[in-house]
Amino acid sequence: MAGARNLWKKLLLLALLLVSLHWRCTATTNPGDLAVLQSFLQGIDQKSVLTNWKNSDPCGDRWIHIKCTGAAVTALEMNNLQLGGTVTPDINKLSSLDSLQLQQNGFTGSLPSLSGLTSLSRAYFGGNSFDTIPGDFFTGLTNVMEIFLEDNHVNSTPGWSLPADIQHCSNLQTLSITNTTLGGTIPDFLGTMSSLKNLYLAYNTLRGGIPATFAGSNLIKFQANNQQGNEPLTGSIDPVASMQSLTTLWLHVNQFSGVIPPGLGNLSSLQDLKLNDNEFVGVVPQSLTQLPALKNFTIKGNMLVGPMPELGFSYDGSTNGFCQATPGLPCDPRVTALLDFAGAADAFTSPCMTTWKGNDPCSWTGINCVRGTVTTIQLPNCQLNGSISTALANLTGLTALDLRNNHISGLLPAAIVQIPTLRNLNLFRNRLSGPLPPFPSGLQVNVDENPLTPVSPASGSGASPSGSSGTQAPGSPNAPSGAEQSTRRKVSPAAIAVPVVGAVAAVAAAVSVFVMCRRKRPRFMRVQSSSAIVVHPRDSSFERETVKLPTSVAKEGHSGPSEVRVETGNLVISIHVLRKATNGFSENSILGRGGFGVVYKGELDDGTKIAVKRMESAVVNNKGLSEFQAEIQVLTKVRHRHLVALLGYCIHGNEKLLVYEYMPQGTLSQHLFEFAKHGYHHLTWKHRLSIALDVARGIEYLHGLAHKSFIHRDLKPSNILLDDTLHAKVADFGLVKLAPEGKVSVETRLAGTFGYLAPEYAVTGRVTTKVDVYSFGVILMELITGRQALDTSRSEETMHLPTWFKRMRVNRETFRSSLDPVLEVTDEEFESICSVAELAGYCTMREPYQRPDMSHAVNVLAPMVERWKPSMDFDAEEGGIDLGLSLSEALRRWQESETGMDETRTSLPTRPPGFADSFSSTDVR
Ligand SMILES: *[C@@H]1O[C@H](CO)[C@@H](O)[C@H](O)[C@H]1NC(C)=O
Ligand SMILES: *[C@@H]1O[C@H](CO)[C@@H](O)[C@H](O)[C@H]1NC(C)=O
Ligand SMILES: *[C@@H]1O[C@H](CO)[C@@H](O)[C@H](O)[C@H]1NC(C)=O
Ligand SMILES: *[C@@H]1O[C@H](CO)[C@@H](O)[C@H](O)[C@H]1NC(C)=O
Ligand SMILES: *[C@@H]1O[C@H](CO)[C@@H](O)[C@H](O)[C@H]1NC(C)=O
Repeated sequence: MAGARNLWKKLLLLALLLVSLHWRCTATTNPGDLAVLQSFLQGIDQKSVLTNWKNSDPCGDRWIHIKCTGAAVTALEMNNLQLGGTVTPDINKLSSLDSLQLQQNGFTGSLPSLSGLTSLSRAYFGGNSFDTIPGDFFTGLTNVMEIFLEDNHVNSTPGWSLPADIQHCSNLQTLSITNTTLGGTIPDFLGTMSSLKNLYLAYNTLRGGIPATFAGSNLIKFQANNQQGNEPLTGSIDPVASMQSLTTLWLHVNQFSGVIPPGLGNLSSLQDLKLNDNEFVGVVPQSLTQLPALKNFTIKGNMLVGPMPELGFSYDGSTNGFCQATPGLPCDPRVTALLDFAGAADAFTSPCMTTWKGNDPCSWTGINCVRGTVTTIQLPNCQLNGSISTALANLTGLTALDLRNNHISGLLPAAIVQIPTLRNLNLFRNRLSGPLPPFPSGLQVNVDENPLTPVSPASGSGASPSGSSGTQAPGSPNAPSGAEQSTRRKVSPAAIAVPVVGAVAAVAAAVSVFVMCRRKRPRFMRVQSSSAIVVHPRDSSFERETVKLPTSVAKEGHSGPSEVRVETGNLVISIHVLRKATNGFSENSILGRGGFGVVYKGELDDGTKIAVKRMESAVVNNKGLSEFQAEIQVLTKVRHRHLVALLGYCIHGNEKLLVYEYMPQGTLSQHLFEFAKHGYHHLTWKHRLSIALDVARGIEYLHGLAHKSFIHRDLKPSNILLDDTLHAKVADFGLVKLAPEGKVSVETRLAGTFGYLAPEYAVTGRVTTKVDVYSFGVILMELITGRQALDTSRSEETMHLPTWFKRMRVNRETFRSSLDPVLEVTDEEFESICSVAELAGYCTMREPYQRPDMSHAVNVLAPMVERWKPSMDFDAEEGGIDLGLSLSEALRRWQESETGMDETRTSLPTRPPGFADSFSSTDVR
């Protein structure tokens, strides 16, 4: 028994001995690992920090900041030790390494390759100054779960890209590459790595879209916000709507576009959604209100419209086009119906829709109202793609719906044609399918050139040259083109095709086209067609043909407030055309500089001269952008021979450009105050008088336009441009304000130019049309005296023109001495000057109600100009049509002059092309 006991004791001792022997053996670090660590120590600058690394055996001597398993080094844990220097490229020879933590130090140079570290599960390099990443960095990391590289500045232009072999890291769950100058596009394969849960790509220079593969990914957190390149991330975010696991989605500060996909409402785990500062359009889907976990939501800085969704917590929805500032409040029913229509027609990215925001649809492009009721919708050539929403039937009062030349498909809802007030429905050249609903009598319909299911021979495709429906009475079922019938009875089916590329939707445009036709027939191609006008859809010849945009247009203001508003179609001009026209925006092409950018002179291929206003990109983001939009909005609605015509515009990335007709003689202020410097002859009194009348007419029109009152707010000689005959046009509509219904005053942020500001406006910011009248009065004083409104080089008492002018007017002698010294006036002229001075005084009365309307100024000035008969007669040069006539008058004259002409001419439609199509019959007759 004692012997056995002894034996046990001996065995135990032996075992202890073996264990301790073993202990000594394994405590000796692998020589390979030791060499790597020594090399690592060599590379770093602060060797003393690693206090016990002097000892010879890393594992045995328990070196700080490393871990071993047996003789193998398994972890380097050097987080935030303020180490500098470089990291040895041999790190990947630590073959058992599991965790490599070098984050938050000052390492420079190249990241070490991790190639072949099959045991590695964590690699943290964030917050250093590594400037290079080896091509095989991610190779063979079959077990890695987390890689953090954020906040390193990898030197590489235009940015480094993720190598494809990262997709074989089949256990990778978290990849953080935020702020590392990662460039190129987001690789497709990131969407197919099924283990990947957290992907952080923010603050890089990525461009392009979110790959479709992401729709199938298992990502929980996805951050791709704040891409820093010139072209950040773009395109739709549709793939994210299928990423069911998402809790965090940060896409803010990019240029994502399109509508916010309703499918986001299916992401039931989503907590944190940041979409701000992109280019999203359309209505925020109501489905977002059903996200149970959503706690954070940012959406400001997009172009969203409609109601703000009520999410149960507050969020910033500013700088969008929402109809209400409070979440949950519904829009005006007219807005609801129109936005529903726009949504169904996929219209929110259409260039026609840039003004469709807020809660007043009457100010939107393509919408006309009468006393607040939407009466016409005119959206020809707007690239509408979807279908026609029955929501339009809620617009009781609608008289005309013009959707010519779009790509609208689906059925025409019966509810639309049954709108009791609807008289004119133009769906020419779309992709509607049949059958058509029965049309009520009295409704004029054009559905030519739609691939309608043939229900009856009469309603077939309008592609046949003789048209289709000339014999069918309007009102009989399926009569497809009643709008054309009156036209066709009088004329042959031939028509003019105007290669204006979706730019001529306006009546005014049509008239001007006529004028051009008569004089320059070869510019237009005549084709056989069933419709009165064929406006080419945008095609490859678009660029060349933009030059045929009409440049001047008929419509005089005093023909009464019942006049229709002129609506243009698509005025988009390509950036390439503008670059070419301006010699790449060369210094030599600069015409002038304004507060919001530079104006260039340009010449199109055919010799047409244009002026291109290029917004300074720095200001486009805030104030400049709203003025840019205001200008497009105003100029597409107002067309008058004394208002500078907008020929088109261009939005290209950050570039925002407006294209105007070119006014060769520059500004009135150059002619008035700096004529010698510019080599001009000084303006005679006759010229000044006629310029004053031109300006008065332009502003009168602006003030009295069809139920609306536009207020210019920045009328001054540098905004008055002259053509070669010294006729004037008012320019610069960036500050134009739309006075709601009638002429009530609106409160605004003060804008304009000192010297021309009406006193009440300067003091209260309240603006009425009378602020323009005041500015006009000041301009009259300038025309008389040759002095500037505010001349700080003069003494205190004479600096402010209106004050001084009123003083000088007290008697004829002092007044005579105040006249512009370059004027040599006859006695007769002096009398006329006195009358204008009186008008000037009247216009600058202290109280707005004391000032006359602009039409009074026109009535005072017109007879004087008539009496003086200035030598130039520019109406004559437009081929006999007086563009100053009212529209209907011009048409009547044109028709009369055509009677009995040869066949070519009589085959033209008796109405201007597109006229009947565009406007309701009540407006036409
Ligand atoms: C990006 O990283 C740099 C260091 O490389 C750092 O200075 C900067 O603050 C980081 N930027 C952001 C937005 O985090
Ligand atoms: C949400 O998911 C359901 C079921 O997968 C699907 O039928 C529906 O279309 C989705 N909703 C949206 C708006 O995509
Ligand atoms: C919401 O966002 C803020 C700011 O980014 C953040 O501090 C907060 O933690 C987020 N809350 C949730 C619930 O995600
Ligand atoms: C149309 O009007 C009806 C009745 O007022 C309303 O229930 C419906 O929501 C409206 N639809 C739209 C799209 O405005
Ligand atoms: C309609 O579709 C065409 C062709 O797919 C596209 O170019 C156009 O941008 C679309 N229009 C809108 C308004 O999205």
